[in-house]
Amino acid sequence: MPRQHITTHIAILGCVCLGLLAYLFHLDQPVSVYAGTTSTAQDFDSPGSVSVVVNKQRPLGDPGYVPAVLIETGGISLRQEAAEAFAQMARDAEASGVAITAVSGFRTAESQARLHDAYTGRYGTEVAESISALPGQSEHQTGLAVDIGASGGECSLKACFEGTAPGAWAAANAQRYGFIIRYPAGAEHITGYAYEPWHLRYVGPDAAGKIHGAGITLEEYAGLYEPPSAPPSSAPGKNAVEPVP
Ligand code: DAL
Ligand code: ZN
Repeated sequence: MPRQHITTHIAILGCVCLGLLAYLFHLDQPVSVYAGTTSTAQDFDSPGSVSVVVNKQRPLGDPGYVPAVLIETGGISLRQEAAEAFAQMARDAEASGVAITAVSGFRTAESQARLHDAYTGRYGTEVAESISALPGQSEHQTGLAVDIGASGGECSLKACFEGTAPGAWAAANAQRYGFIIRYPAGAEHITGYAYEPWHLRYVGPDAAGKIHGAGITLEEYAGLYEPPSAPPSSAPGKNAVEPVP
């Protein structure tokens, strides 16, 4: 066989092998029907990514993780992208007559542990785990989550916050600033947590717009949730317990 034919055959074989490897690698990745339209792949795994998915099944790799840069805004600290977006959102809400206050932002693993222990003592393990994350499993530890409140403190950290002016404003507008209501009503079987209309998570305006528009959770957006073949035995309800940050 002439030398150039052999070279061509080797090149074709190489392409086929590379294609096969790329296909097998792709099969190993979570598949998202929602995230696929963005120009760059989103990183749902790295704690430093604004798309990171942290939940009970996906703890932070480093349980003591602290973001490299934290910016103070409204008396709390957040990662820079989230801090700037929050400040802009609060200014725009105020311009339309709605006062949004920041109740809690970045929390260290130690402060998360203290909170979780306090809720466990007050409500018992089962309830505490439906309203409060363990250290190393809280979005507050990523610096991308902010709990918001009303300036008068009404319905602070309670499900009725959705009916307050800042709660309703955030539900309608937060996605424009890159925030989602991370724990929607009726999604406890997906997120692992009861309804928290005050807990906003920064994911960036593109993802937030898609998640809000589709009415889905971050887990579904990231292709990390497999619906069960049968519906869950009990429908999750709204919080029936006292304030939880
Ligand atoms: N309340 C949310 C789930 C947290 O503790 O991070
Ligand atoms: Zn929160």
